[in-house]
Amino acid sequence: MDIDRKAFLESLGGAEGVARMDSEARADALESRMMSELNSAIAVKKSGEAKPAKTYPTAAEVEAQIESRPYRAGVGFMMVPRSGENVKKLPPMPANPTLADFFKLRFADTANHVLQSANLAMKNGMSEEVILACLLHDVVQEIMRTDHGWWGAQLFEPYVPEKVSFAIRYHQALRYYADPSVGYEYPELYRELFGADYVPPPYIQATYEMVRKHRWYMEPRMVAVNDLYAFDPNVVVTIEPFTDIIGRHFKQPKEGLGNDGSSVAHMWRTIVRPDQPL
Ligand SMILES: [Fe+2]
Ligand SMILES: [Fe+2]
Repeated sequence: MDIDRKAFLESLGGAEGVARMDSEARADALESRMMSELNSAIAVKKSGEAKPAKTYPTAAEVEAQIESRPYRAGVGFMMVPRSGENVKKLPPMPANPTLADFFKLRFADTANHVLQSANLAMKNGMSEEVILACLLHDVVQEIMRTDHGWWGAQLFEPYVPEKVSFAIRYHQALRYYADPSVGYEYPELYRELFGADYVPPPYIQATYEMVRKHRWYMEPRMVAVNDLYAFDPNVVVTIEPFTDIIGRHFKQPKEGLGNDGSSVAHMWRTIVRPDQPL
């Protein structure tokens, strides 16, 4: 989808505000903006009436005014609504929740984007591993946004083939690096936002160098390729087209996600019961 670049830059505090932000913050601002614009556009499409776009705090406000906020920008979308409104009671989850239940009942802010990404990967004839990685690549941002590639890979690692968690972990770093062999250009918008001399932070560069030489390089690369162009307000995708791929590659625990005693069960329980302290 097209982003109003001028309005977006202004929302980041103009050139001055953008200059104050580090690269990760700028990229996260862009992704967050695209997700929120997509969610608003789909809400309007479903209701059939024009609604004012949902407004979220911008990353510039967070960068420039960190101490003016009662929370940090890395906290997940379900934990602190960016609308400024109070949180809503969440619908109850089944006793043995499946991945599809999480999509329907918990991934409110990220589902549209990842479903569109997976849909595009499927249309582009990607492998089932890449399609699954696209489907899962950003949902951890419901609870945590810092280093979301690493958090996301950890959340899914016990249940998916290693290639899939590899793709999820490293898509975060590859979005900064062009690869003309697959038609992935360094995004023009990034050039405008970051400046022509922009250099990603050392850990992202080191990760890129490692992944570039890895035999599975193409797995996260294809997530980045299908991620970037996955924002289309005219496409509403459900989880159903992916049921077979999930069935073949996602080891759904019979006790339900969060009840299986895995090393990440607590992360799933956090998504089930985010209102439960301690
Ligand atoms: Fe991402
Ligand atoms: Fe994404």
